[in-house]
Amino acid sequence: MAQMRLDKFLGEMGLGTRSQVKELARKGRVAVNGQAVKKSDQKIWPGKDEVQVDGKTIPYVPWEYYLLNKPQGVVSATEDGRYPTVVDLIAEKKRKDLFPVGRLDKDTEGLLLITNDGILAHQLLSPGKHVEKTYFVRMKGALSPSACRQIQEGLVLEDGQKTLPAKLHLIRQWREGEGIWAEPVPFGEACLTIHEGKFHQVKRMFEAVGCQVVYLKRLSMGPLTLDENMEPGQYRPLTSGELAELKALEGERRTDG
Ligand code: URA
Repeated sequence: MAQMRLDKFLGEMGLGTRSQVKELARKGRVAVNGQAVKKSDQKIWPGKDEVQVDGKTIPYVPWEYYLLNKPQGVVSATEDGRYPTVVDLIAEKKRKDLFPVGRLDKDTEGLLLITNDGILAHQLLSPGKHVEKTYFVRMKGALSPSACRQIQEGLVLEDGQKTLPAKLHLIRQWREGEGIWAEPVPFGEACLTIHEGKFHQVKRMFEAVGCQVVYLKRLSMGPLTLDENMEPGQYRPLTSGELAELKALEGERRTDG
């Protein structure tokens, strides 16, 4: 770890903007290795030097990783003028620089990784890496055998983009007279696994075969799986095992080129 400016360190650890932490130092509230430091542009060694604010040690946390069950109505962004963001939901975060790895639509629920590890995020999102993502889909309309085949083999979206082959598992379908659904319109449920992340991809794949997605939830991404007992809005830090699997994936992909 290289040396870092004290104001950058305090900013990253969530103590405020650069001007706020400058003010903290100016007021004599910041100490490094027991010595009050009035100039916040001083360099420190993160993790080695002991930084205190008002006598309280600020531990250096380089990376944070959370698995969130994203609820509907929350946007996959770091800031938004109108809606709460997924980062707002992480109440225990230590750092200010967290972001979601990829996007789920505002009305989509499910697994979202929140971190500040840009290298890992880049590896997971890179289009050439084909990280698997599985979604639970509830749709209006019925999927014919030919529609299923098109989804599985790859189809052309309304803007002309072609999707890669995908795995489709039909859970249930409405069939006239069978009375599975109380609704007066045909609904179905399926699990879809894709290896890419085009804009609104799942919804557009179903639209391309005449079905409207009415509920969407991401169940897994690469080695990460949503816990069944995790309610929308709940989150937890990744386990060391999950992190090791993600890092292994990253290493594998890196050597793959
Ligand atoms: N595909 C979609 O259409 N929406 C999402 O939120 C995720 C994948």
